[in-house]
Amino acid sequence: MAEMTLKIGGHAFKNPVFTASGTFGYGDEYEDIFDPALLGAVCSKGLTRFPREGNAPPRLMETPAGLLNSVGLQNMGIEPFICEKVPQLIEKGISVIANIAGHSTEEFAEMASLCNESPGILAVELNVSCPNVKEGGMAFGIRRQSVSEITGACRKALQKPLIVKLSPNVTDITEMAEAALESGADALTVANTLLGMAIDVEKRAPAIHNVFAGLSGPAVKPVALRMVYQVKKAFPHAVILASGGIVSTRDALEFFMAGASGIQIGTGLFRTPDLPLRIIRGLEEFCDENGMRTVSGLTGLAIKEMS
Ligand code: FUM
Repeated sequence: MAEMTLKIGGHAFKNPVFTASGTFGYGDEYEDIFDPALLGAVCSKGLTRFPREGNAPPRLMETPAGLLNSVGLQNMGIEPFICEKVPQLIEKGISVIANIAGHSTEEFAEMASLCNESPGILAVELNVSCPNVKEGGMAFGIRRQSVSEITGACRKALQKPLIVKLSPNVTDITEMAEAALESGADALTVANTLLGMAIDVEKRAPAIHNVFAGLSGPAVKPVALRMVYQVKKAFPHAVILASGGIVSTRDALEFFMAGASGIQIGTGLFRTPDLPLRIIRGLEEFCDENGMRTVSGLTGLAIKEMS
């Protein structure tokens, strides 16, 4: 059986298949379907300093090959997450990554340092890319200077692996990747949702209350794949978690071969709730059938200069 572990910073995750923030609740909602402890890690819903109710409905809409969401970071707040949820998740053996979304650099750093106090949080993912909030969110992730500042401040505050979740809504993803890596990120998630919208023709109005929304699912896969390839080619040592429309083992393999070291499954969970387990098994089988001793051997195989 191929070796499946994925190392990020100082932590070795049991396999490279994670669930994406915002698509798996706080980690325990899927327990009746499969054991979340089998996942490499669960990325929490985006956590803010204080609880948020999120945006008004309508805030979700299916598209022919994906999903528009404008949830607006509805969450319980980081302290209840740390005090109430994380202890239960540790007891169940679930590996937790806290996805945090601050309103300022200082607030990001404060939340990162709160995560130090929680042994069950194995790593922190900085959400500088949520397209659905007025303060911060994607506005941070589309400017090199704010990506640098927030990553640098959190690197100082946090004594755990640090992941930066990048926005795809930029001209050059490698510029943001460079800013995060130079400022101390141990890994990059490539990428959050693409900004989109829909119109309700009967109402002659935007279909989503907040007008714009983040597009995920198979529709965005070629874009995310291209970005993973570009980042890995520019920064061969970068550890990349690919996120964008993965619905099969074949999709996962494409992302690994484009340069990912791990993957995050998001929208695909809504149609196939046990998809991550199917993909873990699929990756193991592919490695075994192809005589590969480690899943990490797949990373970057399709990048011209690296293969
Ligand atoms: O609206 C939301 O809660 C989405 C968050 C995200 O894309 O990070």
